[in-house]
Amino acid sequence: MKLIPDSSPCLFLLLLLVQLFVYSASRPAHNHSLCSTFSPMINHLDSLSKLSKTLHGLTDHELITMATATNRLDALPNIQHSAAHFNSAQLNASLSELYVDTQAFRLHVDWLKTARKNVSLSSHPAELRSTHLHHLSKLLNNFLHQIHEEIPQPPSPSLPFASTTFDVLQYSIEISEKLKVFCFWSKRVLNHLKKLPPCA
Ligand SMILES: *[C@@H]1O[C@H](CO)[C@@H](O)[C@H](O)[C@H]1NC(C)=O
Ligand SMILES: *[C@@H]1O[C@H](CO)[C@@H](O)[C@H](O)[C@H]1NC(C)=O
Ligand SMILES: *[C@@H]1O[C@H](CO)[C@@H](O)[C@H](O)[C@H]1NC(C)=O
Repeated sequence: MKLIPDSSPCLFLLLLLVQLFVYSASRPAHNHSLCSTFSPMINHLDSLSKLSKTLHGLTDHELITMATATNRLDALPNIQHSAAHFNSAQLNASLSELYVDTQAFRLHVDWLKTARKNVSLSSHPAELRSTHLHHLSKLLNNFLHQIHEEIPQPPSPSLPFASTTFDVLQYSIEISEKLKVFCFWSKRVLNHLKKLPPCA
């Protein structure tokens, strides 16, 4: 008498299980605690985008007359991405870059906060941005830590002394415009990265 009446379905099932195991073991593990931080990062960028109009508090007409001299803050990240940038985007490199840029914006926004106070302009809009940039850089720092990536050194440029209201307004416009571009592209980069392994 046979113990197993017909072994072939059993063998088939066993093979299937082995295959399933091999398949799941060869896939990079989806890391929930890691991948779930993309959403709060994107939320901070969204909030920053919504704020970007009011950093200088000028009307469109005033903007046109003011926005003549830009690119005066050399250490401000000038984001110029292209489609090619996305195809080659790597989690570690892209997030390191994002971290460095976030820190640079934070530094400039904090500097602007003081500059605006000095000429008696409201520093509240800069404070709001600083808070979001602070949270974003903390999330990025944690993320890099979790993927065992070295935390890049934040920049420490020397920023100018802004003596007139006119100067401060121009700096406000410049930071505001570049921050807007930064938010737009960074959001796209994060939305792209979260669809790649290990988060796909
Ligand atoms: C997932 O993330 C945690 C940190 O929250 C880390 O300790 C762990 O090594 C990660 N796992 C994988 C498979 O990457
Ligand atoms: C990112 O990781 C890849 C391998 O996964 C490695 O070859 C590359 O050097 C890393 N890049 C950075 C900037 O750490
Ligand atoms: C604001 O004023 C203080 C005191 O005069 C000065 O040290 C600082 O450099 C000024 N900040 C900016 C951004 O101009």
